[in-house]
Amino acid sequence: MTEHTVPASELYTESFAADPYPVWARLREQAPVCPVSSPRFDSYLITRFDDARDALTDPRLSKDLYGPGEHYLRIFGPNSAELNKNMLNSDPPEHTRLRHLVSQAFAPRRIEALRPRIAEVVDGLLDKIVPSGECDLMREFAIPLPMVVICELLGVPEIDHDRFIGWTQVIRTSGSIKRSPEEERAAVQQAQLQLHDYLADLVQRKRTEPGDDLISALIDACDQDGRLSERELVSTTFLLLFAGHQTTADFLGNAVLALLCHPGQLDLLRERPELLPNAVEELLRYDGPLPVASPRVATEDVEYDGMRIPRGSIVGVVLNAANHDPRRFDDPDRLDVRRTGPHLGFGYGVHHCLGVSLARMEALIGIGALIDRLPGLRLAVPVDELRRLPPASPFRGLLELPVRF
Ligand code: HEM
Repeated sequence: MTEHTVPASELYTESFAADPYPVWARLREQAPVCPVSSPRFDSYLITRFDDARDALTDPRLSKDLYGPGEHYLRIFGPNSAELNKNMLNSDPPEHTRLRHLVSQAFAPRRIEALRPRIAEVVDGLLDKIVPSGECDLMREFAIPLPMVVICELLGVPEIDHDRFIGWTQVIRTSGSIKRSPEEERAAVQQAQLQLHDYLADLVQRKRTEPGDDLISALIDACDQDGRLSERELVSTTFLLLFAGHQTTADFLGNAVLALLCHPGQLDLLRERPELLPNAVEELLRYDGPLPVASPRVATEDVEYDGMRIPRGSIVGVVLNAANHDPRRFDDPDRLDVRRTGPHLGFGYGVHHCLGVSLARMEALIGIGALIDRLPGLRLAVPVDELRRLPPASPFRGLLELPVRF
């Protein structure tokens, strides 16, 4: 690290959790490739749009953090590879093989077939919410919607959904409950272990009793090199569960909050619902749930914007900073549901989000129904009192979204 290294504690303050965009803007203008030191790992943050897009396709920046340097082994412990060594954390050709096999199971027709069921789940959740006139929209809508959808897609029996939500919430909210770092680590590791054992058992059950679900399709998926191994099946299922649930839940919360803070834009969507698909993209650009793409590691010395990133360094591509880069977007901090043009909210390059059509479908149906069925929707507390995920969380989201309607 250089003399200009920023300690993570200076970056990730409480005010950062409420509004990180001024910090991202400062880095983007003053230190577009910024070295940051933290107790977990030192890294270089890339914040400009063009650099970000280049970095996401740079073969010198590896996704295999179990490879040289073994960063993930050191941070998450020896057992973590069982769950985390999946397509997201691998490079071609291994990544190509895994993504190809998973894409067979994650076929567009399987996702399209979910459309009526998603609408049914959304209606069911709203039927429960509407009579009360108020609710916590995270707990009663944004979290259960993608959880039920991904559980049904994977083939997790309904009776297990609550246990599932419990384990994933321990992992999602880590850092936001006052616990010592040791207690925190132990709670997360235990939840991961339980989830691992549950998923391994579920894969076994699907082998003997296959159904019309994604896990059964993953077991069947085959190419010239064969099928997914047992470990790959469990780690892929874990990835789909987390990638599919956490991001979508946080996105729904961030999107609804952004609309409530911009009533003119909400009114516009009420008048012109055909703008909704565009609005979903703009809301993702405006306040995405994955501020920094999952880490990369430099396999050789690389240079971005005149800054040398030494071999072995971790690189974080800050999607939410790139998506507010004025070099790319006019008046980038303004929410404008009519805005068009590509953003990086779903990533870029070979790791571009595999679940993009599912995520869009859930957001479109979910936000559309909220606008339709909750006409007087408004915040129940001042915006600066909303409780959020901790500043250094890999996700950007709300712990609660109290609303009235
Ligand atoms: C990858 C965002 C929903 C499955 C990614 C990446 C991003 C992203 C930025 C690339 C990460 C990187 O390069 O480091 C989002 C957002 C979502 C969402 C914002 C919701 C609004 C989903 C859903 C699923 C899913 C619903 C599936 C059920 C995946 C998978 C990958 C991925 C499997 C890894 C792809 C690979 O490594 O080739 N997502 N995602 N995501 N996403 Fe999503």
